[in-house]
Amino acid sequence: MGSYEFIKLQDNLRSALGNGPTDQAKELVMRLLSEYKSNPQDWQDKETWSENKYTRTLLDKGNGHYNLMLLCWNTGQESPIHNHPNSHCFMKTLKGKIHEEVYKKPNTSSCCQNSDCEMVKIADRDYKVDDVALITDNDGVHRVGNRSQEEKAVTLHLYCPPFSTCHKYDDKSSKETEVPMGFDQDFSERCCPHTC
Ligand code: SIN
Repeated sequence: MGSYEFIKLQDNLRSALGNGPTDQAKELVMRLLSEYKSNPQDWQDKETWSENKYTRTLLDKGNGHYNLMLLCWNTGQESPIHNHPNSHCFMKTLKGKIHEEVYKKPNTSSCCQNSDCEMVKIADRDYKVDDVALITDNDGVHRVGNRSQEEKAVTLHLYCPPFSTCHKYDDKSSKETEVPMGFDQDFSERCCPHTC
């Protein structure tokens, strides 16, 4: 059960995104995520940990307008380079430190699909607790991860609109592959604003 502040955050996100990701809504979501100050008691009962991969836990389906998720990154775990098809990816660091590499979205129709068509990195960013970031495919595609060998990391992600598949990209060839975006746990039916 989260604190009043975390329940209020989820409630306010629902109100903000009721009409989809308008420019005004995007600004408001950035503000709401920044204003919430990470408190492990709000989300640690929803953590899922794996030795093999980072995990994705669905917290709220946002009335079909977005997915709010908790991602748990064990030491050294990272995502593949991937896109967010026609969506907005908001990310807030709740625990630990997160590293993001942003790459130019490859033009896969003209790309040679072999080893001399490497992904082109355009940014390297570090995030600490309470930092908030936003990326869309217009900005590029990214890889997110926890580079620490000592400390685990937890992030809160909001994808608006939600999507169930994305593309991952091979670092060396830029080859894209469609992959499903599954959940390791789903709390969206069990607890949502107004009903907790
Ligand atoms: C994911 O959603 O599985 C990766 C994290 C991200 O896109 O920021």
